[in-house]
Amino acid sequence: MPAQTPAPVPSAAAPPALRVALLGCGVVGTQVARALLEHADDLAARAGAPLELVGIAVRDASRPRDGVGTVIPRELLTEDAASLVDGADLVVEVMGGIEPARTLIRRAIDAGASVVTANKALLAEQGPSLFEAADAAGVDLSFEAAVAGAIPIVRPVRESLAGDHVRRVLGIVNGTTNYVLDQMSTHGLDLEDAVKEAQALGYAEADPTADVEGFDAAAKAAILASLAFHTRVSLDQVAREGITSVTADDVAWAQRTGHAVKLLAIAEQTGEGVSVRVHPALVPLDHPLAAVRGAFNAVFVEADGAGPLMFYGQGAGGRPTASAVLGDLVSAARDRLVGGKGPHESAYASLPVLPADAAVTRYQVRLLVADRPGVLAQVAGVLADHGVSIDTVRQTAAEPPAGTGTDSAGTASLLLTTHAAREASLAATVAALDGLEPVREITSVLRVEGV
Ligand code: NDP
Ligand code: HSE
Repeated sequence: MPAQTPAPVPSAAAPPALRVALLGCGVVGTQVARALLEHADDLAARAGAPLELVGIAVRDASRPRDGVGTVIPRELLTEDAASLVDGADLVVEVMGGIEPARTLIRRAIDAGASVVTANKALLAEQGPSLFEAADAAGVDLSFEAAVAGAIPIVRPVRESLAGDHVRRVLGIVNGTTNYVLDQMSTHGLDLEDAVKEAQALGYAEADPTADVEGFDAAAKAAILASLAFHTRVSLDQVAREGITSVTADDVAWAQRTGHAVKLLAIAEQTGEGVSVRVHPALVPLDHPLAAVRGAFNAVFVEADGAGPLMFYGQGAGGRPTASAVLGDLVSAARDRLVGGKGPHESAYASLPVLPADAAVTRYQVRLLVADRPGVLAQVAGVLADHGVSIDTVRQTAAEPPAGTGTDSAGTASLLLTTHAAREASLAATVAALDGLEPVREITSVLRVEGV
C-alpha cells in the first residue's frame, strides 16, 4: 500500500478588504491617510484584512495640500462626505466640530460601520447618545486620540483599570496651553505670540480659543472622569478656567517661589460625588508635572489597587495623534473580523457631579497692602473669619508697576499660601480682602496642586 500523503489543508479564503472612509484631511487626517497608504501591508497583517482607503472628505477638494497628488492620490478627495460614509466598513472622523461630524458619525453607525474619532468636543457634548447608538448597532465607537494625543490613556482607564477603583486623575491634557506657558516661562514670549507658534506647529484647535480658554482640556476631563468613575460627565459640568488671566508676572513669581504654572485637568471622587475642573495652577518644581515641557502631556491616575500611575507623551500634532487613531482602527477592524465589538459605555455608578465651589484645594494669594502695623493681623483675620487656614506668609517691599513710575512707598507685597480650603470659602475670602481698607490690590489668586 503506498504511503499516504496528508490531504492538503484547504486554505481559508483571504478576508476581503475593509473599506475605510476618512473624514478630514487636515493636521491629523493627512497623517492617517499617509500611514494607511504607506504602511498598507503591515496594517493589513495586523488587522487581519487589508484596510482600503476609499475616500477622504474635505470642505474644499481643489485646494493644494501637502502630500496630495504624491503619496495621497487626489482622486481620493471628495466634498460629499455623506456618500463616502455610505458603504464604508470603518469611518475615521478627524474633521472636528459638532456638525456635520455628529450627523456623519450617526449615519455611519446606523449603517453598521464602526467609527474611530479624535473629536473630544463632540464626545463631551454628545457622547452618551452616540455610545447608545453604537451599542444598538453592535459596532465600535473608539476615541483614544480624543484625549492626550498619542498617549494611551483611554484604553488603560477604561479596560486595564476596569477592576480597580480610581480615586483621582490629574493631568496636563492640552498641548497648546502647555506649549504657551512653557514659552512664556522659558523665552518670555507673550501669550498671543506663543499661541501663533502653537497653531503653526499643528497643536491648536481650528479655533485656538478652545485651547486657551480651557474648553479642549475640559472636554478631555469630562471624558476621563466619565471613564474613571463610571458616571456620565458632560462638558457643562466641568468647572473651567483658561490661561488668559495668567500674566508674565504670575509666571515669574511662580519661578521665584519654586513652582511652574500649568493648566491642569483634575477629576476626583470624594465622599460627596465627583469633582471635575480645569484651571491654571502652581505646581512645585520637584513634581513630575512641572517637568512636562512643550506640547507634551502627562496624566496621573491614582487607583486603590494600582496606586499611582503616570502616562506621558506627545499630546498634540499630526503624527502622534494619527498613531492613536490607527491603533483604534486596527482594533475596530479586528473586532469586525471576529464579529465582535469593544467595551460598552459604563455609567452604572451615576455619581453626582459636584458644583465648582465644592472643590477643595490650596491657594497662593498675592496682594499689595499698606505697610503699617496691624495690617498683617487684619488680613489674617479675614482668612480666619472664612475658615481658611494660612500655611505661609511672605512679605516683601512692593515693586512699583513696571513702566508706570508709580510710587510704591508705603506699600508691601504679601504672598499668602493657604492650607486646603473650599473654593467657595476662598472666593468669599478674596471678596472680603478686596473690601479691606489697607488692601491696595489683589494681584493674583492661583491654586496650588501636587503638594
Ligand atoms: P484641521 O482643522 O487641521 O483639519 C480638519 C479637516 O476636516 C480639514 O481637512 C477640513 O477640510 C475637514 N473638514 C472640516 N469641516 C468639514 C466639513 N464640514 N466637511 C468636510 N470636511 C470638513 O483639524 P485637525 O486635524 O487638527 O483636528 C481634527 C480633529 O482631531 C479635531 O476633532 C481635533 O480636536 C482632533 N485632534 C487634533 C489634534 C491635533 O494635534 N491637531 C490632537 C488630537 C485630536 P479642509 O481641509 O477642506 O478645510
Ligand atoms: N488642541 C489640542 C491640544 C490638540 O493642544 O492639546 C490635542 O487634543
